[in-house]
Amino acid sequence: MTAIVIVGTQWGDEGKGKITDYYAEDADYVVRFQGGNNAGHTIMVGDETFKFHLLPSGILRTEKKVVIGNGVVVDPIVLLDELTEIKKRGFAIKNLYISDRAHVIMPYHKIIDGIEEKLKKGFKAGTTKRGIGPCYSDKIARFGVRMIDLLDKETLEKKLDILIPIKQKTLDIYGENIKLSKIDILEEYLACGEKLKKYVADTSLLINNALDEKKMVLFEGAQGTHLDIDHGIYPFGTSSNTIAGGACIGTGIGPQRIDKVIGVVKAYTSRVGTGPFPTELDDENGEYMREKGGEYGTTTGRPRRCGWLDMVMVRFAVRVNALDALVITKIDVLSGLKNIKICREYEHKEKIIRDFPADMNVLADCKPVYDELDGWGYYSKDEWKRMVKKGYEALPDNMKLYLDHIRKETGVEMELISVGPRRWETIDMRSHH
Ligand code: GDP
Ligand code: IMO
Ligand code: MG
Repeated sequence: MTAIVIVGTQWGDEGKGKITDYYAEDADYVVRFQGGNNAGHTIMVGDETFKFHLLPSGILRTEKKVVIGNGVVVDPIVLLDELTEIKKRGFAIKNLYISDRAHVIMPYHKIIDGIEEKLKKGFKAGTTKRGIGPCYSDKIARFGVRMIDLLDKETLEKKLDILIPIKQKTLDIYGENIKLSKIDILEEYLACGEKLKKYVADTSLLINNALDEKKMVLFEGAQGTHLDIDHGIYPFGTSSNTIAGGACIGTGIGPQRIDKVIGVVKAYTSRVGTGPFPTELDDENGEYMREKGGEYGTTTGRPRRCGWLDMVMVRFAVRVNALDALVITKIDVLSGLKNIKICREYEHKEKIIRDFPADMNVLADCKPVYDELDGWGYYSKDEWKRMVKKGYEALPDNMKLYLDHIRKETGVEMELISVGPRRWETIDMRSHH
């Protein structure tokens, strides 16, 4: 296996960061292909916690090459902050590559994200206000700024001469009393370009050459399948293609090059932002997941909405990503619950729905139909250590029944079971097959 794509199967925050870091041990390259610093990927090494928004989760393994692909939207200020922070914590940045074609999040994108969220009323997704949507809109409308533009004063100035008056008009029409200064933006972004210049490269060439040499390349998805701009809960998702196909577009590789697609499934569901959420729990069980799972946004600190695992969502993810394998995360969080429910299908106006609907009005009215399973007890850290060491068979019987249920509903095998945030808290089933 040389090209492996890791994607979230739900609404993000499935634990992709931890899982990417885990797989990265064997990889030569770790590549981000979409999204921007709306992502928040947490990795624990020993008792140290790292949170990344833009840097690929392979960055802690400093001998690996990490790539920010053309499909990512880059806020250069955030990226430089992230690099400074990680250097301060003792990690060398030796092998970072940023696509020359990646689009740049400009100051007006962040301002417009905030303003439009306020105006959007019922359409608002509860964005991270990082300028993601407006930056992708400009990319598609063909007046974006790309990484390569930051490397040349003349090019950037020419672009800003056209762009700043347009964006100023937009702000004026919106009735905002904000004045954009071309000179300030030009200076700040050229300075960023100067600092990032050594990392900017033709990353499609780099990755294709690596694949020719049979290097292992890991493509790290951000967000999740149901936040995808085309396949997610429109208009409450994000602005990029989060599904596995996005890895081709977002890095410049052909679809035949992908060997394997892995879907990360959190053992329950969470959502940060607005929109319908059929299995959402507004009770002590939801509270239990939020508190035990630490379900507070990595990027914005917002409490995440929590609910039971929804197999309608996961089956959809199996289909649109053509998942070869699943990774189950955070199953430890459910320990201590007496009964655990899994949504099998929805009921809508006395009809059964098995396939995730496109219509948000329908989704909002869907009642989940549940299977109910018995829970399992608490385990101490030492007991988890023992179970991880012994492997899958040592897991509590009811947990294995829960996992069997997921297998049956999806028809997809599992590769890893994650039972805690640290690297060692992982049951690796790859040797079992
Ligand atoms: P991502 O956006 O998909 O990378 O996920 P986040 O990092 O936003 O959220 C996942 C959170 O759960 C992080 O705080 C992780 O450290 C933590 N985590 C990951 N896997 C596990 C697990 O198996 N069990 C527990 N208890 N926590 C986990
Ligand atoms: P990771 O990679 C969870 C959600 C926002 C909002 C919608 C649009 O950590 O899984 P945006 O700022 O992208 O325009 O917001 O998408 N969202 C996420 N939710 N995890 C994420 O990333 C997310 N990135 C965006 O809350 O509803
Ligand atoms: Mg996250």
